[in-house]
Amino acid sequence: MKSYDIAVMGGDGTGPEVTRENIKVLEVVAAKFDFKLNFTDFDLGGERYLKTNEALPDSAVEDLRKFPAILLGAIGHPDVKPGILEKGILLRLRFELEQYINLRPVRLYDERFCPLKDKGPDDIDFVVVRENNEGLYTGSGGFVFKGTPHEIAVQESINTRRGVERCLRYAFEYTRKRNKDKTLTLCGKTNVLTYAFDLWERAFHEVGKKDFPEIKREYAHVDATTMWFVKNPEWFDVIVTDNMFGDIITDLGAMVQGGMGIAAGGNINPEGTSMFEPIGGSAPKYTGQGVINPLAAIVSGAMMLEYIGESEAATTIENAVIKITREKIKSLAARKMGYSTSEVGDLVASEIS
Ligand code: IPM
Ligand code: MN
Repeated sequence: MKSYDIAVMGGDGTGPEVTRENIKVLEVVAAKFDFKLNFTDFDLGGERYLKTNEALPDSAVEDLRKFPAILLGAIGHPDVKPGILEKGILLRLRFELEQYINLRPVRLYDERFCPLKDKGPDDIDFVVVRENNEGLYTGSGGFVFKGTPHEIAVQESINTRRGVERCLRYAFEYTRKRNKDKTLTLCGKTNVLTYAFDLWERAFHEVGKKDFPEIKREYAHVDATTMWFVKNPEWFDVIVTDNMFGDIITDLGAMVQGGMGIAAGGNINPEGTSMFEPIGGSAPKYTGQGVINPLAAIVSGAMMLEYIGESEAATTIENAVIKITREKIKSLAARKMGYSTSEVGDLVASEIS
């Protein structure tokens, strides 16, 4: 029997609650498709940081590196200053494990949950491929004359040909494999960021023309992209963009698909350890009440299965989520689902078995 070692980081706030439901569903689907998942828990997050003053020990990074995949619940604690856990855990893992892709599908499962007028599941079905290791996120820059009236703060966007090209190649391959409209849109700002997106644009067309001639190449400025997400989301198939723009447009994407309760993503190193997460965060005000929506975590579990090569099992989870979303769930928002967190997990699990 095939077996996979999976690291689990429930993390902070509602992270452990949604992760529990994710694992419940994964175990049911694994039994059905005859493979085994061996879960190993890692106690990382705000609570641990408050006790030990260490966000992420080096040894944990090395341990995590041995796993093909990590399931992450959420990182973020109300008693820890913003930035410490984000940079110390989430961004550090993305960088050190070279998860250079942040894959964020935007798919509406049921018309009722779309905030856009006259748009349905056929209109909202696209994927954002966000570069995840470079851009404004590298921490390059600094202060000069800090705290004086002459203070200067510089925050640089790093775009390497290698980093950009591997992201573009992943996006082209993904568009090919997805086989929907065979259209890849580069989202940038070539009219203002004339160095960074000049490199992106040249690499985009060079790589596309040479190695992916059947994939149609489109370009959209980031500001126009946000407009079209709302006005004509059906125009998009796969979008590729840099780290910062990807961060921003995927929150809008999450709203268009029904909210944080359903939005999942993967931090992907195609050759190493990838990390899957519901993108909603730790939601401290709902912690421990059993009211948070676990569907985003469950969908991230399906993405994990797809990544390790269990595609059929992945599709089975997603189809069960679609069915439950359409037939049972009253709202995708916390406290309004019509069911508790664990009841939603049970619904998906029994749909599968
Ligand atoms: C995300 C989050 C992170 C990001 C934060 C928590 C550092 O917003 O995963 O989109 O900016 O990438
Ligand atoms: Mn974000």
